[in-house]
Amino acid sequence: MTKQKNAILVIGACGQLGSELTLELRKIYGDANVVAADIQYPKQADLRESGPFEIVDVLTPQHLTELASRYKFKQIYHLAAILSATGEKNPKFAWRLNMDGLFNVLDFALEQKVEKVYWPSSIAVFGPNSPRQNTPQDTIMDPNTVYGISKQAGERWCEYYFNKYGLDVRSLRYPGLIGYKALPGGGTTDYAVDIYHQALALGTYKCFLSENTRLPMMYMPDALKATIDLMHAPAEQVKVRSSYNLAAMSFTPQEIAASIQRHYPDFTITYDPDSRQQIADSWPQSINDSAARQDWGWNPQYDLHTMTDDMLRHLKRINN
Ligand code: SER
Repeated sequence: MTKQKNAILVIGACGQLGSELTLELRKIYGDANVVAADIQYPKQADLRESGPFEIVDVLTPQHLTELASRYKFKQIYHLAAILSATGEKNPKFAWRLNMDGLFNVLDFALEQKVEKVYWPSSIAVFGPNSPRQNTPQDTIMDPNTVYGISKQAGERWCEYYFNKYGLDVRSLRYPGLIGYKALPGGGTTDYAVDIYHQALALGTYKCFLSENTRLPMMYMPDALKATIDLMHAPAEQVKVRSSYNLAAMSFTPQEIAASIQRHYPDFTITYDPDSRQQIADSWPQSINDSAARQDWGWNPQYDLHTMTDDMLRHLKRINN
């Protein structure tokens, strides 16, 4: 059997980030060259229909080796992970999936001589002892969620594979991601997506974080641009081989509600904080991303209001 050369593998392609990143990569590299992979078939028609899909459980390395008999991958995006809130419900499994999954992908990439690997980290690598404002690239971390601990350990291992084996792994510490195409699952920042859906469906939203909980956030088009820009940067410009701080905006539930009220003055919000409040309180309020700006020219496009305008416009179109 002839192998398909120069393929790109996206693991976790059905997730909030994966479902958008896969389509973006297909635009750049051609539909047939970007292989979407996940533990389940995509519900999203555009993802299912626009290119190849493979079932991959990252905890089963044979799934990856089986793919290698049909594709020669030049890049892998490994996005499959359990997020912060879900992770706290089953910490041992979150650790196993997030860490063993990463090892399986890094080892597969080495074995297959994959040119570049992308792996996302998060603001969750920081903890209650980190500076909360303008959190620097290098500072006290001490994450206290299993998700954050797995992301910090993952960063160390990515850097290790780069230094020790020369594997070109690249990573970003995403803030909360907001997009209209797919829902997030099991994160602490998910409220900032739900709120737009509920504003249109019900005109009211009950928030699981308190009104003044400020967190770093980013609109999906900026997250896609950052990921692709980082992967396109010449290797020598990628000086941070753990993971880059990345920022766009920070806001509170009260502020996003006010931003929605510019369009829907009758929209109301109530607050009923749950266990996710404690996680949010351990994270930074704003992030210093000067290393990303200097090294490979990062520059976000969206702020809170321009994001709200775009989110509501698209959601209204989808709902009609
Ligand atoms: N958005 C993620 C979460 O809330 C953090 O990376 O878990």
